[in-house]
Formats: sequence, C-alpha cells, structure tokens
Amino acid sequence: MSPHTPEILPPHPLRPDYDRSLGADDVHALFQRRLEPANYTTRYFTALAARLDKELSRAPDDDQLAYELAFVLLQNRADADAVHRARDLLDRVRTEAMARPGDVAHLRGLVASIISRLDAPVAAQHRIARRVNWSINNRCPMACRGCYNPFAEDQIGLTEARVVVDKLAAHGTSDLVLSGGDPLLWPPIFDVIDHAHQAGLKVALDTTGYTLTPETMARLSGSLASIRLPLDGSTPDIQHAFRRSRDRDLVTRFRRSLQLCDDAGFNAVRVHTVVSRPNLTDLDAIAETIFSHACVRQWLLFQWWGRRASKRLTDELAVPLAEVTAAARRLGERYPDKEIYCASTDKRELVNFFIQSSGQVVTLASGYMEEFIVGHMLHDDMDTLAASPVLDFPAIHSGLPVTIDKPAAQGDTGVTHERTMSPPARPSEERP
Ligand SMILES: C[S@@+](CC[C@H](N)C(=O)[O-])C[C@H]1O[C@@H](n2cnc3c(N)ncnc32)[C@H](O)[C@@H]1O
Ligand code: SF4
Repeated sequence: MSPHTPEILPPHPLRPDYDRSLGADDVHALFQRRLEPANYTTRYFTALAARLDKELSRAPDDDQLAYELAFVLLQNRADADAVHRARDLLDRVRTEAMARPGDVAHLRGLVASIISRLDAPVAAQHRIARRVNWSINNRCPMACRGCYNPFAEDQIGLTEARVVVDKLAAHGTSDLVLSGGDPLLWPPIFDVIDHAHQAGLKVALDTTGYTLTPETMARLSGSLASIRLPLDGSTPDIQHAFRRSRDRDLVTRFRRSLQLCDDAGFNAVRVHTVVSRPNLTDLDAIAETIFSHACVRQWLLFQWWGRRASKRLTDELAVPLAEVTAAARRLGERYPDKEIYCASTDKRELVNFFIQSSGQVVTLASGYMEEFIVGHMLHDDMDTLAASPVLDFPAIHSGLPVTIDKPAAQGDTGVTHERTMSPPARPSEERP
C-alpha cells in the first residue's frame, strides 16, 4: 500500500475578529498580533511589554493599557514579581469600561489561582514535568475548526530534538506525547522516537494517521507505548464538521489506520474524538467503528474547546459538559469492558507542559488568547522551566498517563483517572 501524500494546509487564522482598522504601529495592534506564530516569542513579548509600560506611564488611567500589560507580563516567562504586578494592574482595571469584560474576569481568576499556588508552593522535588506534550512538527494536513494547537513558526532539527529528549529524561519526565501538526510528516521523527525510547521515556504518537503504512507501523510498534488516532464522525460530512482537510475521504483513511494497527498486532491505540454539536448523535456509530478494531484500547472524548474560536463557531459547535458526560456515561454502559474517558474543557487550564516545534515551552488556559510562554527547551535548564509559577503542578500530577503502559488483557481497565478528565464513564467506577 503506498503512502498517501497529504496536502499541507496553510495555518488557519489565529483568531477571526482581528481589528484590521488598527495602524501597524499602534500598540493595541501589536498586542492583538502577539500570538501569530512569528510573534509568539519571548523577544516579541519583551519588546511589547516595554512599549506598553511606556504608553501606560504616559496615560496611567488607561484601563485597556493596564489590562494589556498585565496579560503580556503573565504570558512572557512570568516569575513571582511579574504575577504580582499583573495582579495589581488587573485590580485597577474597571471591568465595565472594557470591551470584553469576561476576558478580564477570567484572567483575574487565573492570576488568583497562580498566586494561591505561590503562597503554598510545591517543593522543588515535586516540580517534575512527568508528562510532556511536544508539538514536534509545525506542519499539518488539516485545519480543524477551533484547533487549539499553538503552532510555532520555527522547527528544530534532529540534533536539537535529541538534546530536548535528553533533558527531559534527565529531569524525570516519564511520558512523552509527540504530536503536531502531524509528527509523521517530519522525517526525523523515527529517530527521535527511537532516541526517546532508548532514553527510557514512554512515547505516545498523536498523529492524523494519514501516512501510516505497514512499513512505518513495523518501524514504530517496537518503540511506541501508544498511538492516538482521531475519528470525529462516522461519515465524511460529520467528520468534516470539525476535522477539515481537502480530502473528503478521511473516514476511510482513519479506518485504514486502525486496520494497519490491527494487522501489526499493535493493541495500544487510543482513539480521540472531539465531541461537538454535529457529532453528538453520531457517537454510537463512531463507537461501533472503533470497537470493531482489536487495536483500540482506549477512547477519549474531548469536549470541543472553543478557546480560539469566534462566537459564531462556538454557537455552532460547542456542547455543554453535561451533555458530553451523559453521552460518555451511556456509551460506558453500552461498552462496559472498554476504557472510555472524557476530557472536559474546564479542567485543562495550565496543566500542559507543551513544547512547540521551535523548542519553546508554553502552557494554555481556556480564555481568549490565554497562551503562556514558560521558557525554551534549548535555552533554559529544566529546573528553571519547572520553577514557572504559571504551571499548575498538582493538577499536572493528577492527570491520566499520556501513554498506555502495556497492552492489557481484554477487560483490564488499567489506567487511573486524571484531573483533566471528567469522572469515569463506566458505571462500575461510579459506585461508592
Ligand atoms: C492538537 S491535536 C495534535 C495531534 C494531531 N494533529 C491530531 O489532530 O490528532 C491533539 C488532539 O486535540 C484535539 N483537538 C484539537 N482541537 C481541539 C478543540 N478545539 N477542542 C477539543 N479537542 C481538540 C485533536 O482532535 C486531537 O485529538
Ligand atoms: S487538530 Fe490536529 S490535525 Fe487538526 S488542525 Fe489541529 S493539529 Fe492539525
């Protein structure tokens, strides 16, 4: 079977409501452009903070400037001083004067949670990023609607990737997810996986599955602890409602990926389904498809996360958590011997130690543009990165292992639950 060569799509728009009327050098324009992949760097943020500081000293009562400076301070490798200054700036913002008062309130809540952790710090020996998500390739064959992946402009090479792996292993990371974009579209990925495996890391691969072949499966299956493949609809139309590509035959391709895993005897597959309004009533059909494959060990239902979406898209796709968990519970009853998990959006804040393709480390929250630079894998030591007050280590530690330890006998539930997951869908686990 020859590999399919997918078309790489241009990055989807960062946000739909750019105010294009702002002049190129306007400080508010610079602020709104900060998460464009080319700008999302410490260098840009440091210059932006200096500019905002200067403007604020000229107009000290300007609420918008105070809010923007607080946000940028938090987003740019914040230390304790920066967090406290951000809190003070946000305190003086008159919410009612702001165009998006909900954003200010959300940011204030985040700052309060960071300060409460600063007041009761986790000891250094517990500040270990055991689970790391590495978006190792910035290229993607799709443009899923509301994709939350923070794409970076730069792409490190194999030599630097090995350095990153060695640093993680020495630090105490145990579980590493290699994702993207699509990591399989980056040729050095096989060497990186081998290197990480040899360094003692459990490695999971988050791939669209587009380019899997029997040969690549044979190469991967010895060193991967799990492969995670997406299926978001049982028909092309339903799939297309979230997962966009120019290929209208994605469902067939994903089924073929599952078949390849079956054929390779690789029974550590986790299927990812993003639950949105268009596929909520399709979950039974998706379940039938995936559970007909012996390779599937786990099914994770992501509540669609609108953190980068417009209001219109959110109105179209978002499903309240109660509906997602009800669906997961019903499916859990229907498939009592399967591992079905549900990732709710309200528990995903500041829990990611997320390495971008450039090597920059970030973490994410649910609010608008809430993406926080923690540091850089190639320029900072791990202790410095792990000292970031923004990272919520207690929450990070209570998470589900990102990999599947080892293939289990049928019916073995194997995996504990995590804070980023809602309660287990299986009725047996809900009993007191
Ligand atoms: C960011 S992707 C990276 C890996 C790969 N590109 C993929 O799509 O599988 C990791 C997972 O996040 C899911 N995801 C992406 N955007 C999402 C959103 N807005 N809400 C919930 N899940 C999302 C994807 O479906 C995928 O299962
Ligand atoms: S969800 Fe994955 S496949 Fe879809 S656009 Fe985002 S990174 Fe690409």
